[in-house]
Amino acid sequence: MNQHDAEKMANLLHHEGYAAVSSVDGADVVLIHTCSVRDKAEQKLYSELGSLLAQKDERPDLIVGVGGCVAQQEGGALLKRFPKLDFVFGPQNLVHLPSMVESAIARERSLRVDYDDDRQARFELPERHPEFQAGNSGRAFVTVMEGCDLFCTYCIVPATRGREVSRSSEEILAEASALANRGVIELTLLGQTVNAYGRARPGRVDGELRFATLIRRVAEIAGIERVRFTSPHPIFMTEDLIGAYGEVPELCPHIHLPVQSGSTRVLEAMSRRYSREDYLRTAEALRTARPDLAISTDLIVGFPGESRSEFEETLSLVSEVRFVDSYSFKYSERPGTPAQRRGLQSVEPDEAQDRLERLQALQKRLTLEAHQARVGSRTTVLVDGASRRGGERRQGRDPYNRVVNFTATSPMVRGVLCDIDVTAATPHSLLGVAEGDCASGSLPLR
Ligand code: 5AD
Ligand code: SF4
Repeated sequence: MNQHDAEKMANLLHHEGYAAVSSVDGADVVLIHTCSVRDKAEQKLYSELGSLLAQKDERPDLIVGVGGCVAQQEGGALLKRFPKLDFVFGPQNLVHLPSMVESAIARERSLRVDYDDDRQARFELPERHPEFQAGNSGRAFVTVMEGCDLFCTYCIVPATRGREVSRSSEEILAEASALANRGVIELTLLGQTVNAYGRARPGRVDGELRFATLIRRVAEIAGIERVRFTSPHPIFMTEDLIGAYGEVPELCPHIHLPVQSGSTRVLEAMSRRYSREDYLRTAEALRTARPDLAISTDLIVGFPGESRSEFEETLSLVSEVRFVDSYSFKYSERPGTPAQRRGLQSVEPDEAQDRLERLQALQKRLTLEAHQARVGSRTTVLVDGASRRGGERRQGRDPYNRVVNFTATSPMVRGVLCDIDVTAATPHSLLGVAEGDCASGSLPLR
Protein backbone atom coordinates (compact mmCIF):
# COMPACT_ATOMS: atom_id res chain seq x y z
CA MET A 1 0.00 0.00 0.00
CA ASN A 2 2.85 2.40 0.81
CA GLN A 3 4.60 1.57 -2.43
CA HIS A 4 1.45 2.41 -4.35
CA ASP A 5 0.92 5.60 -2.32
CA ALA A 6 4.45 6.65 -3.28
CA GLU A 7 3.53 6.15 -6.95
CA LYS A 8 0.46 8.31 -6.37
CA MET A 9 2.58 11.08 -4.80
CA ALA A 10 5.09 10.99 -7.65
CA ASN A 11 2.20 11.19 -10.09
CA LEU A 12 0.59 14.16 -8.33
CA LEU A 13 3.85 16.10 -8.47
CA HIS A 14 4.40 15.03 -12.06
CA HIS A 15 1.14 16.79 -12.93
CA GLU A 16 2.63 19.93 -11.34
CA GLY A 17 5.65 19.73 -13.61
CA TYR A 18 8.05 17.95 -11.27
CA ALA A 19 10.19 15.05 -12.44
CA ALA A 20 11.72 12.26 -10.38
CA VAL A 21 15.48 12.34 -9.72
CA SER A 22 17.61 9.54 -8.38
CA SER A 23 19.32 11.28 -5.47
CA VAL A 24 18.61 13.82 -2.75
CA ASP A 25 21.44 16.02 -4.06
CA GLY A 26 19.59 16.78 -7.28
CA ALA A 27 16.17 17.22 -5.68
CA ASP A 28 14.19 20.41 -4.99
CA VAL A 29 11.60 18.51 -2.97
CA VAL A 30 12.27 15.48 -0.77
CA LEU A 31 9.46 13.48 0.78
CA ILE A 32 9.99 10.86 3.44
CA HIS A 33 7.27 8.27 3.29
CA THR A 34 6.81 6.51 6.60
CA CYS A 35 5.45 3.31 8.13
CA SER A 36 4.50 2.99 11.78
CA VAL A 37 3.47 -0.64 11.92
CA ARG A 38 6.53 -1.43 14.05
CA ASP A 39 8.70 0.85 16.16
CA LYS A 40 11.86 0.18 14.15
CA ALA A 41 10.38 1.79 11.03
CA GLU A 42 9.35 4.82 13.07
CA GLN A 43 12.83 5.26 14.55
CA LYS A 44 14.30 5.14 11.05
CA LEU A 45 12.37 8.29 10.19
CA TYR A 46 13.91 10.27 13.03
CA SER A 47 17.47 9.46 12.06
CA GLU A 48 16.90 10.05 8.33
CA LEU A 49 15.01 13.28 8.90
CA GLY A 50 17.71 14.71 11.19
CA SER A 51 20.44 14.34 8.60
CA LEU A 52 18.22 15.49 5.75
CA LEU A 53 17.18 18.69 7.54
CA ALA A 54 20.84 19.41 8.39
CA GLN A 55 21.37 19.84 4.62
CA LYS A 56 19.06 22.85 4.75
CA ASP A 57 21.88 24.88 6.31
CA GLU A 58 23.63 24.81 2.94
CA ARG A 59 20.50 24.53 0.80
CA PRO A 60 17.82 26.71 2.41
CA ASP A 61 15.48 26.27 -0.58
CA LEU A 62 15.33 22.50 -0.18
CA ILE A 63 11.74 21.49 0.64
CA VAL A 64 11.22 18.56 2.98
CA GLY A 65 7.92 16.86 3.78
CA VAL A 66 6.93 13.78 5.77
CA GLY A 67 4.01 11.61 4.70
CA GLY A 68 2.61 8.20 5.62
CA CYS A 69 1.48 6.63 8.87
CA VAL A 70 4.06 8.18 11.23
CA ALA A 71 3.01 11.58 9.88
CA GLN A 72 -0.60 10.69 10.66
CA GLN A 73 0.29 9.36 14.10
CA GLU A 74 2.57 12.22 15.21
CA GLY A 75 1.01 15.12 13.27
CA GLY A 76 1.91 18.56 14.64
CA ALA A 77 4.40 17.03 17.10
CA LEU A 78 6.70 16.36 14.13
CA LEU A 79 6.58 20.03 13.05
CA LYS A 80 7.39 21.05 16.63
CA ARG A 81 10.23 18.59 17.02
CA PHE A 82 11.78 19.49 13.63
CA PRO A 83 11.55 23.28 13.14
CA LYS A 84 13.01 23.08 9.63
CA LEU A 85 10.47 20.53 8.40
CA ASP A 86 8.13 22.12 5.81
CA PHE A 87 5.05 19.93 5.91
CA VAL A 88 3.44 16.80 7.32
CA PHE A 89 0.60 14.89 5.69
CA GLY A 90 -1.24 11.64 6.43
CA PRO A 91 -2.17 8.85 3.99
CA GLN A 92 -5.71 10.25 3.48
CA ASN A 93 -4.32 13.61 2.37
CA LEU A 94 -2.19 12.74 -0.65
CA VAL A 95 -4.35 14.94 -2.81
CA HIS A 96 -3.12 18.04 -0.91
CA LEU A 97 0.53 17.38 -1.70
CA PRO A 98 0.84 19.93 -4.55
CA SER A 99 -0.66 22.73 -2.44
CA MET A 100 1.65 21.89 0.49
CA VAL A 101 4.68 22.15 -1.81
CA GLU A 102 3.35 25.51 -3.04
CA SER A 103 3.00 26.74 0.55
CA ALA A 104 6.51 25.57 1.36
CA ILE A 105 7.87 27.60 -1.56
CA ALA A 106 6.11 30.61 0.02
CA ARG A 107 7.82 29.64 3.34
CA GLU A 108 4.61 28.54 5.01
CA ARG A 109 4.64 25.30 6.96
CA SER A 110 1.59 23.06 6.74
CA LEU A 111 -0.09 20.09 8.39
CA ARG A 112 -2.73 17.87 6.71
CA VAL A 113 -3.75 14.96 8.87
CA ASP A 114 -7.51 15.49 9.01
CA TYR A 115 -9.87 13.15 7.22
CA ASP A 116 -13.48 12.31 6.77
CA ASP A 117 -14.13 8.59 7.09
CA ASP A 118 -16.89 8.41 4.51
CA ARG A 119 -15.16 10.45 1.89
CA GLN A 120 -14.39 9.00 -1.54
CA ALA A 121 -12.18 12.02 -2.34
CA ARG A 122 -9.03 10.15 -1.37
CA PHE A 123 -9.57 7.99 -4.45
CA GLU A 124 -10.07 10.97 -6.74
CA LEU A 125 -6.56 11.49 -7.99
CA PRO A 126 -5.47 12.68 -11.42
CA GLU A 127 -5.00 10.07 -14.11
CA ARG A 128 -1.75 8.20 -13.78
CA HIS A 129 1.11 9.05 -16.02
CA PRO A 130 2.54 5.84 -17.50
CA GLU A 131 5.87 6.53 -15.78
CA PHE A 132 4.21 6.24 -12.39
CA GLN A 133 1.87 3.36 -12.91
CA ALA A 134 3.92 0.51 -14.15
CA GLY A 135 6.88 1.75 -16.12
CA ASN A 136 7.23 -1.00 -18.67
CA SER A 137 6.95 -3.70 -16.06
CA GLY A 138 3.58 -4.94 -17.28
CA ARG A 139 2.15 -4.81 -13.78
CA ALA A 140 0.27 -2.28 -11.68
CA PHE A 141 -1.60 -1.84 -8.42
CA VAL A 142 -5.21 -0.72 -8.20
CA THR A 143 -6.64 0.45 -4.87
CA VAL A 144 -10.03 -1.09 -4.12
CA MET A 145 -10.46 -0.14 -0.47
CA GLU A 146 -8.55 1.60 2.28
CA GLY A 147 -8.60 1.66 6.05
CA CYS A 148 -9.50 -1.02 8.54
CA ASP A 149 -12.37 -1.60 10.95
CA LEU A 150 -11.00 -4.71 12.64
CA PHE A 151 -8.79 -3.27 15.39
CA CYS A 152 -6.47 -6.20 16.01
CA THR A 153 -5.10 -5.39 19.45
CA TYR A 154 -1.44 -5.00 18.35
CA CYS A 155 -2.10 -2.91 15.26
CA ILE A 156 -1.80 0.82 14.67
CA VAL A 157 -3.28 0.76 11.16
CA PRO A 158 -6.91 1.50 12.13
CA ALA A 159 -5.62 4.65 13.89
CA THR A 160 -3.44 5.85 11.01
CA ARG A 161 -5.40 4.71 7.96
CA GLY A 162 -8.84 5.30 9.44
CA ARG A 163 -12.10 3.50 8.84
CA GLU A 164 -12.78 1.06 6.05
CA VAL A 165 -13.81 2.81 2.82
CA SER A 166 -14.45 0.95 -0.44
CA ARG A 167 -14.00 2.58 -3.80
CA SER A 168 -16.80 2.31 -6.35
CA SER A 169 -16.41 -0.75 -8.58
CA GLU A 170 -17.17 1.41 -11.61
CA GLU A 171 -14.04 3.47 -10.94
CA ILE A 172 -11.95 0.41 -10.19
CA LEU A 173 -12.95 -1.27 -13.44
CA ALA A 174 -12.39 1.92 -15.44
CA GLU A 175 -8.89 2.26 -14.00
CA ALA A 176 -8.15 -1.42 -14.61
CA SER A 177 -9.28 -1.13 -18.24
CA ALA A 178 -7.17 1.98 -18.79
CA LEU A 179 -4.14 0.15 -17.43
CA ALA A 180 -4.82 -2.87 -19.65
CA ASN A 181 -5.00 -0.55 -22.66
CA ARG A 182 -1.54 0.65 -21.79
CA GLY A 183 -0.07 -2.83 -21.79
CA VAL A 184 -0.46 -3.85 -18.16
CA ILE A 185 -1.06 -7.60 -17.96
CA GLU A 186 -0.90 -8.19 -14.20
CA LEU A 187 -3.05 -6.29 -11.72
CA THR A 188 -2.83 -6.43 -7.94
CA LEU A 189 -5.96 -5.25 -6.15
CA LEU A 190 -4.98 -3.44 -2.97
CA GLY A 191 -6.58 -2.81 0.40
CA GLN A 192 -5.72 -3.16 4.09
CA THR A 193 -8.38 -5.84 4.37
CA VAL A 194 -8.93 -6.15 0.65
CA ASN A 195 -11.52 -8.92 0.78
CA ALA A 196 -13.72 -6.82 3.09
CA TYR A 197 -14.37 -4.92 -0.14
CA GLY A 198 -17.88 -3.53 -0.52
CA ARG A 199 -19.16 -4.59 2.88
CA ALA A 200 -22.61 -3.03 2.96
CA ARG A 201 -22.74 -0.33 5.62
CA PRO A 202 -24.88 2.73 6.03
CA GLY A 203 -23.16 5.75 4.55
CA ARG A 204 -20.54 3.64 2.84
CA VAL A 205 -20.67 1.72 -0.40
CA ASP A 206 -24.00 -0.02 -0.15
CA GLY A 207 -24.99 -2.73 -2.59
CA GLU A 208 -21.54 -2.84 -4.20
CA LEU A 209 -20.16 -5.84 -6.06
CA ARG A 210 -18.92 -8.67 -3.89
CA PHE A 211 -15.13 -8.95 -3.85
CA ALA A 212 -15.18 -12.29 -5.71
CA THR A 213 -17.38 -10.71 -8.40
CA LEU A 214 -15.01 -7.75 -8.67
CA ILE A 215 -12.13 -10.18 -9.28
CA ARG A 216 -14.11 -11.90 -12.04
CA ARG A 217 -14.89 -8.57 -13.71
CA VAL A 218 -11.25 -7.49 -13.58
CA ALA A 219 -10.17 -10.86 -14.98
CA GLU A 220 -12.60 -10.44 -17.90
CA ILE A 221 -10.85 -7.25 -19.09
CA ALA A 222 -9.09 -7.92 -22.39
CA GLY A 223 -5.32 -8.05 -21.90
CA ILE A 224 -5.40 -8.82 -18.17
CA GLU A 225 -3.65 -12.16 -17.82
CA ARG A 226 -2.96 -12.20 -14.10
CA VAL A 227 -4.92 -10.97 -11.11
CA ARG A 228 -3.65 -10.87 -7.53
CA PHE A 229 -4.85 -9.15 -4.38
CA THR A 230 -3.30 -8.16 -1.06
CA SER A 231 -3.91 -8.48 1.82
CA PRO A 232 -7.01 -10.49 2.62
CA HIS A 233 -8.24 -11.22 6.16
CA PRO A 234 -9.16 -14.84 6.97
CA ILE A 235 -12.65 -13.94 8.23
CA PHE A 236 -13.68 -12.63 4.81
CA MET A 237 -12.58 -15.74 2.91
CA THR A 238 -16.09 -16.41 1.69
CA GLU A 239 -17.13 -19.46 -0.30
CA ASP A 240 -17.35 -17.53 -3.56
CA LEU A 241 -13.86 -16.08 -3.08
CA ILE A 242 -12.39 -19.50 -2.31
CA GLY A 243 -14.29 -20.95 -5.28
CA ALA A 244 -12.79 -18.32 -7.60
CA TYR A 245 -9.41 -20.04 -7.21
CA GLY A 246 -10.82 -23.05 -9.01
CA GLU A 247 -12.78 -21.12 -11.60
CA VAL A 248 -10.96 -17.96 -12.67
CA PRO A 249 -7.86 -18.88 -14.70
CA GLU A 250 -6.41 -15.36 -14.41
CA LEU A 251 -6.49 -15.49 -10.61
CA CYS A 252 -2.91 -16.42 -9.71
CA PRO A 253 -2.46 -19.61 -7.64
CA HIS A 254 -0.96 -17.73 -4.70
CA ILE A 255 -2.55 -16.08 -1.69
CA HIS A 256 -0.90 -14.06 1.06
CA LEU A 257 -3.19 -14.80 4.00
CA PRO A 258 -1.87 -13.41 7.31
CA VAL A 259 -2.39 -15.81 10.23
CA GLN A 260 -0.27 -14.05 12.92
CA SER A 261 -0.32 -16.98 15.38
CA GLY A 262 -1.09 -20.70 15.54
CA SER A 263 -2.60 -20.50 19.02
CA THR A 264 -6.32 -19.92 19.40
CA ARG A 265 -5.73 -18.30 22.81
CA VAL A 266 -3.23 -15.82 21.35
CA LEU A 267 -5.44 -15.17 18.31
CA GLU A 268 -8.22 -14.28 20.71
CA ALA A 269 -5.94 -11.94 22.67
CA MET A 270 -5.02 -10.36 19.33
CA SER A 271 -8.73 -10.04 18.52
CA ARG A 272 -8.25 -11.77 15.19
CA ARG A 273 -11.79 -13.24 15.23
CA TYR A 274 -10.83 -16.75 14.03
CA SER A 275 -9.34 -19.82 15.68
CA ARG A 276 -6.42 -21.99 14.64
CA GLU A 277 -8.97 -24.54 13.37
CA ASP A 278 -10.87 -21.90 11.37
CA TYR A 279 -7.64 -20.88 9.60
CA LEU A 280 -6.70 -24.51 8.89
CA ARG A 281 -10.17 -25.14 7.47
CA THR A 282 -9.87 -22.10 5.20
CA ALA A 283 -6.44 -23.22 3.98
CA GLU A 284 -7.81 -26.68 3.27
CA ALA A 285 -10.83 -25.31 1.38
CA LEU A 286 -8.51 -23.14 -0.71
CA ARG A 287 -6.39 -26.16 -1.59
CA THR A 288 -9.47 -28.16 -2.46
CA ALA A 289 -10.43 -25.41 -4.90
CA ARG A 290 -6.87 -25.12 -6.23
CA PRO A 291 -4.60 -28.02 -5.21
CA ASP A 292 -1.36 -26.32 -6.29
CA LEU A 293 -2.15 -23.07 -4.41
CA ALA A 294 0.89 -21.44 -2.75
CA ILE A 295 0.03 -19.83 0.58
CA SER A 296 2.22 -17.24 2.29
CA THR A 297 1.57 -15.47 5.56
CA ASP A 298 2.50 -12.93 8.26
CA LEU A 299 3.41 -14.06 11.78
CA ILE A 300 4.02 -12.27 15.06
CA VAL A 301 6.10 -13.89 17.81
CA GLY A 302 6.25 -12.79 21.43
CA PHE A 303 2.82 -11.21 21.63
CA PRO A 304 2.37 -10.28 25.33
CA GLY A 305 1.47 -13.40 27.28
CA GLU A 306 2.49 -15.85 24.52
CA SER A 307 3.73 -18.94 26.34
CA ARG A 308 6.34 -21.35 24.99
CA SER A 309 3.72 -23.94 24.17
CA GLU A 310 1.59 -21.34 22.41
CA PHE A 311 4.60 -20.43 20.31
CA GLU A 312 5.07 -24.16 19.54
CA GLU A 313 1.52 -24.10 18.19
CA THR A 314 2.62 -21.44 15.69
CA LEU A 315 5.48 -23.71 14.58
CA SER A 316 3.11 -26.63 14.15
CA LEU A 317 0.59 -24.56 12.18
CA VAL A 318 3.36 -23.36 9.87
CA SER A 319 4.41 -26.98 9.25
CA GLU A 320 0.83 -28.10 8.75
CA VAL A 321 -0.07 -25.42 6.20
CA ARG A 322 3.39 -25.63 4.59
CA PHE A 323 3.55 -21.93 3.82
CA VAL A 324 5.64 -21.25 0.75
CA ASP A 325 6.93 -18.12 2.46
CA SER A 326 6.25 -15.94 5.48
CA TYR A 327 7.07 -12.57 6.95
CA SER A 328 7.65 -12.92 10.67
CA PHE A 329 8.10 -10.18 13.23
CA LYS A 330 8.72 -9.76 16.92
CA TYR A 331 5.80 -8.03 18.59
CA SER A 332 6.38 -4.29 18.76
CA GLU A 333 4.25 -2.21 21.12
CA ARG A 334 2.50 0.63 19.30
CA PRO A 335 1.10 3.76 20.95
CA GLY A 336 -2.63 3.83 21.65
CA THR A 337 -3.32 0.25 20.53
CA PRO A 338 -5.56 -1.93 22.74
CA ALA A 339 -2.59 -4.21 23.57
CA GLN A 340 -0.53 -1.22 24.73
CA ARG A 341 -3.39 0.16 26.83
CA ARG A 342 -3.88 -3.19 28.53
CA GLY A 343 -0.23 -3.05 29.67
CA LEU A 344 0.23 -6.83 29.43
CA GLN A 345 3.39 -8.56 30.55
CA SER A 346 5.78 -8.66 27.58
CA VAL A 347 7.89 -11.64 26.52
CA GLU A 348 11.62 -11.31 27.40
CA PRO A 349 13.51 -9.84 24.40
CA ASP A 350 16.00 -12.75 24.26
CA GLU A 351 13.19 -15.26 24.34
CA ALA A 352 11.29 -13.39 21.59
CA GLN A 353 14.46 -13.28 19.47
CA ASP A 354 14.96 -17.01 19.98
CA ARG A 355 11.36 -17.72 18.90
CA LEU A 356 11.79 -15.57 15.80
CA GLU A 357 14.94 -17.40 14.80
CA ARG A 358 13.37 -20.82 15.28
CA LEU A 359 10.36 -19.80 13.22
CA GLN A 360 12.50 -18.37 10.45
CA ALA A 361 14.71 -21.47 10.33
CA LEU A 362 11.60 -23.63 9.91
CA GLN A 363 10.27 -21.36 7.16
CA LYS A 364 13.58 -21.39 5.33
CA ARG A 365 13.47 -25.17 5.21
CA LEU A 366 9.83 -25.20 4.00
CA THR A 367 10.54 -22.59 1.32
CA LEU A 368 13.53 -24.55 0.05
CA GLU A 369 11.47 -27.76 -0.05
CA ALA A 370 8.68 -26.00 -1.96
CA HIS A 371 11.24 -24.69 -4.44
CA GLN A 372 12.93 -28.08 -4.83
CA ALA A 373 9.58 -29.68 -5.65
CA ARG A 374 9.37 -27.35 -8.64
CA VAL A 375 12.65 -28.44 -10.24
CA GLY A 376 11.99 -30.12 -13.57
CA SER A 377 8.67 -28.33 -14.11
CA ARG A 378 7.72 -25.65 -16.61
CA THR A 379 6.47 -22.23 -15.49
CA THR A 380 5.70 -18.79 -16.93
CA VAL A 381 7.22 -15.60 -15.58
CA LEU A 382 6.38 -11.97 -16.03
CA VAL A 383 9.82 -10.56 -16.82
CA ASP A 384 11.02 -7.82 -14.45
CA GLY A 385 14.44 -7.22 -15.98
CA ALA A 386 18.04 -8.00 -15.18
CA SER A 387 18.60 -10.31 -12.24
CA ARG A 388 19.78 -8.66 -9.06
CA ARG A 389 22.67 -11.09 -9.07
CA GLY A 390 23.93 -9.41 -12.23
CA GLY A 391 25.53 -11.17 -15.18
CA GLU A 392 23.40 -12.46 -18.00
CA ARG A 393 20.64 -13.55 -15.66
CA ARG A 394 17.14 -12.09 -15.82
CA GLN A 395 14.44 -12.10 -13.23
CA GLY A 396 10.72 -12.56 -13.22
CA ARG A 397 7.82 -13.76 -11.06
CA ASP A 398 5.90 -16.92 -11.73
CA PRO A 399 2.15 -17.33 -11.06
CA TYR A 400 2.96 -18.58 -7.53
CA ASN A 401 4.75 -15.26 -6.90
CA ARG A 402 8.13 -16.96 -6.71
CA VAL A 403 11.18 -15.09 -7.98
CA VAL A 404 12.71 -16.94 -10.93
CA ASN A 405 16.25 -16.13 -12.11
CA PHE A 406 16.79 -17.38 -15.63
CA THR A 407 18.95 -17.23 -18.72
CA ALA A 408 17.66 -16.53 -22.22
CA THR A 409 19.17 -15.97 -25.62
CA SER A 410 16.61 -13.53 -27.05
CA PRO A 411 16.95 -9.76 -26.40
CA MET A 412 15.76 -8.67 -22.99
CA VAL A 413 12.25 -7.22 -22.82
CA ARG A 414 10.52 -6.29 -19.56
CA GLY A 415 6.83 -6.77 -18.90
CA VAL A 416 6.35 -9.81 -21.12
CA LEU A 417 5.43 -13.37 -20.28
CA CYS A 418 8.11 -15.94 -20.82
CA ASP A 419 8.05 -19.75 -20.48
CA ILE A 420 10.79 -21.18 -18.27
CA ASP A 421 12.14 -24.65 -17.53
CA VAL A 422 12.97 -24.76 -13.82
CA THR A 423 16.42 -26.33 -13.38
CA ALA A 424 17.42 -25.65 -9.75
CA ALA A 425 16.20 -24.21 -6.46
CA THR A 426 17.62 -22.03 -3.67
CA PRO A 427 15.87 -20.85 -0.49
CA HIS A 428 15.29 -17.49 -2.17
CA SER A 429 14.42 -18.26 -5.76
CA LEU A 430 14.04 -20.72 -8.58
CA LEU A 431 16.65 -20.96 -11.33
CA GLY A 432 15.75 -21.72 -14.91
CA VAL A 433 16.24 -21.42 -18.64
CA ALA A 434 13.91 -19.60 -21.02
CA GLU A 435 12.10 -21.93 -23.34
CA GLY A 436 12.28 -20.58 -26.89
CA ASP A 437 11.85 -16.93 -27.68
CA CYS A 438 11.42 -15.08 -24.39
CA ALA A 439 8.96 -12.62 -25.87
CA SER A 440 6.60 -15.44 -26.86
CA GLY A 441 3.29 -15.43 -25.09
CA SER A 442 3.83 -11.72 -24.64
CA LEU A 443 1.32 -9.02 -25.35
CA PRO A 444 2.17 -5.80 -27.14
CA LEU A 445 3.22 -3.03 -24.79
CA ARG A 446 1.70 0.38 -25.50
N1 5AD B 1 4.22 -5.72 16.06
C1 5AD B 1 4.75 -6.64 15.22
N2 5AD B 1 4.23 -6.91 14.01
C2 5AD B 1 3.14 -6.22 13.63
N3 5AD B 1 2.41 -6.27 12.50
C3 5AD B 1 1.40 -5.36 12.62
N4 5AD B 1 1.47 -4.73 13.79
C4 5AD B 1 2.54 -5.25 14.45
C5 5AD B 1 3.12 -5.02 15.73
N5 5AD B 1 2.62 -4.13 16.57
C6 5AD B 1 2.68 -7.19 11.41
C7 5AD B 1 1.52 -8.15 11.18
C8 5AD B 1 0.92 -7.61 9.89
C9 5AD B 1 2.14 -7.07 9.19
C10 5AD B 1 1.85 -6.10 8.10
O1 5AD B 1 2.88 -6.45 10.21
O2 5AD B 1 2.02 -9.44 10.99
O3 5AD B 1 0.25 -8.62 9.15
FE1 SF4 C 1 -4.13 -4.19 11.39
FE2 SF4 C 1 -5.74 -6.27 11.93
FE3 SF4 C 1 -6.60 -4.26 10.33
FE4 SF4 C 1 -4.70 -5.95 9.43
S1 SF4 C 1 -6.84 -6.50 9.96
S2 SF4 C 1 -4.71 -3.69 9.26
S3 SF4 C 1 -3.56 -6.39 11.32
S4 SF4 C 1 -6.11 -4.11 12.52
